[in-house]
Amino acid sequence: MIDQETPSPAGGTPAAPRVLALANQKGGVGKTTTAINLGTALAAIGETVLVVDLDPQGNASTGLGIERRARNLSTYDVLTGEASMRETVMETGVPQLYVAPSTLDLSGLELEIAAERDRAFRLRSALKALAADSLAPRFTYVLVDCPPSLSLLTVNAMAAADAIVVPLQCEFFALEGLSQLLKTVEQVRVSLNPALTIHGIVLTMYDGRNNLSEQVVQDVRQFMGDKVYETVIPRNVRVSEAPSYGKPVLLYDLKCVGSQAYLRLASEVIQRERAARADAAA
Ligand SMILES: Nc1ncnc2c1ncn2[C@@H]1O[C@H](COP(=O)(O)OP(=O)(O)OP(=O)(O)O)[C@@H](O)[C@H]1O
Ligand SMILES: [Mg+2]
Repeated sequence: MIDQETPSPAGGTPAAPRVLALANQKGGVGKTTTAINLGTALAAIGETVLVVDLDPQGNASTGLGIERRARNLSTYDVLTGEASMRETVMETGVPQLYVAPSTLDLSGLELEIAAERDRAFRLRSALKALAADSLAPRFTYVLVDCPPSLSLLTVNAMAAADAIVVPLQCEFFALEGLSQLLKTVEQVRVSLNPALTIHGIVLTMYDGRNNLSEQVVQDVRQFMGDKVYETVIPRNVRVSEAPSYGKPVLLYDLKCVGSQAYLRLASEVIQRERAARADAAA
């Protein structure tokens, strides 16, 4: 829990953070790894970042060093209205990086709130309250780690997000399921969140020794054009080892190719944000 007082900037309401949802209904494509390490990289270059763990598996919480027994309050409590986001947010070992942890309780949420009118907007409301809370850190980015499904949890993330970041694994069936995901984004845009955009597609687990990886990169770039980030995340054993130490790879081994790729991705994300802001102001 955050208890230190962080005053909001003098004169007026503080700016709301940019909310990016890491979504892909396919399992094991790098959503959580990207939430943890993009979050760490953004914090390392001066942003104040909150990772919201919206997956009952709780891998983002574990990977950020939050043991299960330390999760007194969780995103389940936030989405049921039992706790505020500020009470739930915990510090991590990385300065300026925080996490709202999850527990297995979250897997029952969908049934519990299925009949509620505001069921798709629970996260959006909680983040709005957080942005207005003068006792909370002034987050500049919120990264929402989604479960591998297009369930109510992912819909909550999409309804709360400014934009979606889609991790795609460099494997044979990479594009399979992408059209379903894009259809869901379109449905959310029409019915719940007209401002929602696709921030970008990040290719993960690229293996340079494998021709297939290169073929997948070319196919995805051809299909999705400049929505695909320049940065490709390589398959790197340091990236997969880090979570078992409860550390982001940038803390575990800053020099490895995985860490360096996530730093490049963070600067690309910030560049796209600047370009989007300049377009909006023009
Ligand atoms: N760049 C990488 N290099 C090596 N291993 C990786 C890399 N990215 C992810 N992995 C490993 O691949 C597995 C799946 O990654 P991750 O958990 O991030 O995917 P996910 O999309 O969040 O999965 P789920 O759908 O189950 O939530 C993990 O064991 C992770 O450590
Ligand atoms: Mg995950």
